[in-house]
Amino acid sequence: MRTTIPQFEPYLGQEEIFQVNEVLRSGWITEGARSQEFVKRLVALTGARYVSLAPNGTLALYAALKLLGIREEDEVIVPDFTFLASATAVVLTGATPVFVDVDSATFNILPELIEPAITKRTKAIMPVHIYGQAAKMDAILDIAKRHNLKIVEDAAQGIGVSYKGRHVGTFGDFGCLSFFADKTITTGEGGAVLTNDPGLAEAHLYFRNQGRLERGSFIHPRLGYNFRLTDVQAGIGLAQLDKLAEIVEMKRKNEHFYRELLAEVNQVTFPTVDRDSERVPFRVNILVADPEKLGGFLEARKIGVRRFFYPIHRQPCFNGHNSRVSGVIQNSVRAFEHGLSLPSSARLRTEEIRYVCAAICDFFAGTHVPSR
Ligand SMILES: Cc1ncc(COP(=O)(O)O)c(C=O)c1O
Repeated sequence: MRTTIPQFEPYLGQEEIFQVNEVLRSGWITEGARSQEFVKRLVALTGARYVSLAPNGTLALYAALKLLGIREEDEVIVPDFTFLASATAVVLTGATPVFVDVDSATFNILPELIEPAITKRTKAIMPVHIYGQAAKMDAILDIAKRHNLKIVEDAAQGIGVSYKGRHVGTFGDFGCLSFFADKTITTGEGGAVLTNDPGLAEAHLYFRNQGRLERGSFIHPRLGYNFRLTDVQAGIGLAQLDKLAEIVEMKRKNEHFYRELLAEVNQVTFPTVDRDSERVPFRVNILVADPEKLGGFLEARKIGVRRFFYPIHRQPCFNGHNSRVSGVIQNSVRAFEHGLSLPSSARLRTEEIRYVCAAICDFFAGTHVPSR
């Protein structure tokens, strides 16, 4: 057993090293053949008609919002329980994020709270598939249709996740993936923009490549920017995609084992699984009375843990000037107050999971276990 059990670590190996070596040897390190191949593989995996790469998930969301025409006077509805970037991508466009509460059991946006949040300024909804579990897309699509709103899905944590058999990120006008180091598969930094709309797909190609479709030309028909990735990252992405099924299986197996070992511990509950979603446990999450105290206890035993996301409406960077809160927000606050993410790597070993669960049992039994 390792001396420290990390909260998360990427699942990297010789295959990624081989890819990076090959790219460096080839002399072509910006976007090239591997990026094209990575895109093709993402199309095949997600079923989206069009995929293009982005520098990271945050800028993928920003590009998507921008291409849908979101601007200063607009509002975008965002769940209050998510990583900050869902909301800051909205702020980057000049628009106002409007925070609504989430489901107490799944932490995904509550569709019934979306409609009361809609004003004349509302232009889009951003469902987030939080912790690798799909948001209630049927209801969200229905609301968007009735109110003529755009949808940008934040599927940063959602690779491999589907809703009623369809990959997340393919329901809205755009869907965005992240390949940050803590994601199910990673390229270090990286992201992807998914859409089924040929016009939006083409607009994104111009946007991300300095306003032109071909590289090397100095004639720029449109205004565009540099939102490209590199073949070094795409090569890593290809190696990671080869392992996705294996990673997902291990993550599911690990979570199942945690659930089994902690089933008798009354002080620990696991969040609810939504049967409409084919979930990939992005994190192994538990709910306890005092996650700070339990977290400190586990950290002292060299077990890496993480608190849940801090409610966005309480973030010090947000205030009445650049955001708005709709309705009462309780579940997002409760999730933060009680949630704890346990070690969640795909490569966790059985004895490590046993060790973590034994430590949790000791904590609740009030007994002392010597730290390693
Ligand atoms: C829900 C969510 N949205 C957006 C992002 C932003 O992605 P990135 O870190 O690639 O910019 C992340 C992850 O970091 C995330 O978890």
